[in-house]
Amino acid sequence: MSAKSDDEKKRYEAFQTPKGVHDVLPDDHSYHTYIKKVVRHRARQAGFRRITTPMFEYAELFSRSLGNDSDVVSKEMYLFEDKKGRKLALKPEGTAGVVRSYIENGMNQLAQPVMLYYIEPNFRYDRPQQGRYRQFWQFGFEIIGESDPALDAQLIFLVTKIHEDLGLGDMFRLQVNTIGSPEARRKYVEVLEDFYVGKERAVPAEFRDLIHKNPLRLLDKSDKDEDLQILAKMAPVMKDYLDKDSLAYHEELLSYLDELGIEYEENPSLVRGLDYYNKTVFEFWDKNKGAQNAVGGGGRYDGLVELLGGQPRPAVGYAGGLDRILVNMKRAKIRVPMKDDLHVFVAQLGKEAKKKCIGLIGQLHKVGVKAMGAVGKGSINEQLGIANKFKVPYTILMGITEVKDEMAIIRDMTKGTQVRVPLVDVVERMVELIGEDNLDRYTPGELTME
Ligand code: HAM
Repeated sequence: MSAKSDDEKKRYEAFQTPKGVHDVLPDDHSYHTYIKKVVRHRARQAGFRRITTPMFEYAELFSRSLGNDSDVVSKEMYLFEDKKGRKLALKPEGTAGVVRSYIENGMNQLAQPVMLYYIEPNFRYDRPQQGRYRQFWQFGFEIIGESDPALDAQLIFLVTKIHEDLGLGDMFRLQVNTIGSPEARRKYVEVLEDFYVGKERAVPAEFRDLIHKNPLRLLDKSDKDEDLQILAKMAPVMKDYLDKDSLAYHEELLSYLDELGIEYEENPSLVRGLDYYNKTVFEFWDKNKGAQNAVGGGGRYDGLVELLGGQPRPAVGYAGGLDRILVNMKRAKIRVPMKDDLHVFVAQLGKEAKKKCIGLIGQLHKVGVKAMGAVGKGSINEQLGIANKFKVPYTILMGITEVKDEMAIIRDMTKGTQVRVPLVDVVERMVELIGEDNLDRYTPGELTME
């Protein structure tokens, strides 16, 4: 290849997506739309209201909430400074922002618990692979202001319903654990540190500093290395060190899950990668692939509101990865309704016909017929060729004669037949041909004045 073309190649690299991000193209948007619809519907039914927090926040919000040693904060945050030198970060997850908003907007004055949900892009400098991106979508739920295992159970139930609605009911397995109170966990962390001391050689060099810094994370990383996995299996079990209150809470949660018929696996190694959790932690894993491909996770974070300066309020939440759901839906060959297909292409010849056709297209849209056209100067045949490319079932044709006679031709593109009908009847005829059920009627709901 010549030097020039190499140069050129380099020049155009800037016009490709950066590593780890991708466009959501129209076909994938049909999946996005469907998933969001299911999430919105289920959330509303359960009493959640939607919230959107900013794409970026002060970086300290995340380092405080998620912990400086977490992978997300220490390796994966997109950090930048604004022109005044303020340290900001693109949001790597949704919980911290929602809790910040709860405090900032005085939501502790509202009826508790406050139940909020979000569907948003997040940003992490993660190692890209299928289902793992640097910009990815999460749908999440946060329930702030109440501590009750029945809430944790209902949240988990909600997630299983969403999976079922998306045709993925059998694909994921719930993993649950309790990590107890912060005090009990501190005690356990000491025991765990003692356990790893002396076994340093079996711990991969890149994780060795965690032995003293945060040995819990070594359990969290056991899926990344075989030796770590063996060690995690031999390690003292957290449950043996936990406080009575957390254990009773956990037993109650499990009894509710049984009651709801939700299958689960008790997983004593599950600790989650973020610092704010206590008591309940849970994830949904791909039945075949395990931890690497958690489709979502969450848990209790009773201390976070206080940590960020609010009155102490217990909370529980969950976030699912929309991109991972999408990958799984495609893998399971689940198709969603594609609503973008056009019904009609409108072809015209001459200025007068074009004028009539523009009006006609507007009338078709009004009743829910998806129509486009009335463009270009080509012959009717050329326009029919375009209609074919758009794969429309019908074409409406208007030439000079039709304008004069106030008529239009409706052509059935599959059968290759056509009828000439009075212009005033075209909309009604199209509705009949397409069928009421197939129309794209837009009903945004009634507007009222205050
Ligand atoms: P998380 O486990 O860090 O939890 O993320 C939740 C889900 O987001 C993951 O299970 C995964 O499906 C998806 N996800 C994470 N990183 C990526 C990525 N790079 N590419 C694609 N998908 C990804 C949280 O974020 C917590 N805020 C959940 C929570 C809410 N806890 C309490 N409330």
